[in-house]
This record gives sequence, structure tokens and C-alpha cells, in this order.
Amino acid sequence: MRKETKVIQYTVYDSRNELSADLNELIDCALEAMKNAHAPYSKFKVGAAVRLEGGTIVKGSNQENIAYPSGLCAERVALFAAGSNFPNQRVTHLAIVAEGELLPSSAILSPCGACRQVMAETYHRQGQMFEILLLNPNGSLHVFSGVDALLPFIFGS
Ligand code: THU
Repeated sequence: MRKETKVIQYTVYDSRNELSADLNELIDCALEAMKNAHAPYSKFKVGAAVRLEGGTIVKGSNQENIAYPSGLCAERVALFAAGSNFPNQRVTHLAIVAEGELLPSSAILSPCGACRQVMAETYHRQGQMFEILLLNPNGSLHVFSGVDALLPFIFGS
């Protein structure tokens, strides 16, 4: 028997001013997407923007339903739209933003487990990692170079 340790690395930016123009544009797209969230039940609006190789950006927002489990998170809306419409273009980046009282201002905007699993499928499907950018409520960002950092011991890898 032995104890093992797995280390997770990510980058923290104090503000989006520290990001490249390209990544700032992606964050803007996620913020735009967030405006189309349908979140009358949770009042928590989430926006996601997927950048594909070649530069196309696919947006998604959370879409809730009066029958709660029928709704879907922003990340999955965006990744499924990308997979449906551009199946042969790899995802290079996924930006996620949110607003609402569900998250305290000190929290990290951390995607749910089901969305992480879908990110893992995108990774397996395309055979290439993609960067995940989380815009936190306080304006800082956590940036992960791949879903393996968010979902250690990914099923199927
Ligand atoms: N939500 C997302 O869109 N992404 C996540 O990663 C977590 C939660 C949505 C689902 C629901 O519409 C609302 O936020 C509150 O959970």
C-alpha cells in the first residue's frame, strides 16, 4: 500500500486586463451569450463560448425548464452545438462566465461535474486538450490547460 499525490496546475489572473486580446474577445462572447440565458428558476445566468481551430466561436447559455432536469448548463449547450455543427473542427478554448447570487463574490466559477464529463468527451473525441477559462465573480480568472485538471482520473482515459 502507498499514498500517491496528484498535482493540479492552473493559472490565476487578477483581472481580464492581463489576458491577450484573443482571449478577451472570447470572454466578451461568453458575456454576450449569458444575456440569452433562460434562468427564471435559479436566477443564475451562465454564458459559455467555445473557440474552434480556425477561429469560429460557438456560444451557449443555460436553458432552464419548469421540469428542472430537462434544462441544460451553458457549457453543454455550447459544446453540443459545436459538436453538432462543426464536428470536424477541434475546440481550442472554452470560456465560462456567470452572474447571480448563487455564487458568493469570493467563489470560483467552477463548472458542474456533468459539464466536466462532457468536456472530457470533447477532449477524447478530438484527441487534443483545450483551455478552459473561468471568469470568477470578483473579476479574477482561473485558467486550466485541459479538463484533466478539473476532472482528475477521467473515466475512459
Ligand atoms: N449551470 C451552468 O450553466 N453551468 C454550470 O457549470 C453549473 C450550473 C446552470 C444550471 C442552472 O441553470 C443554473 O446554472 C443553476 O444551477
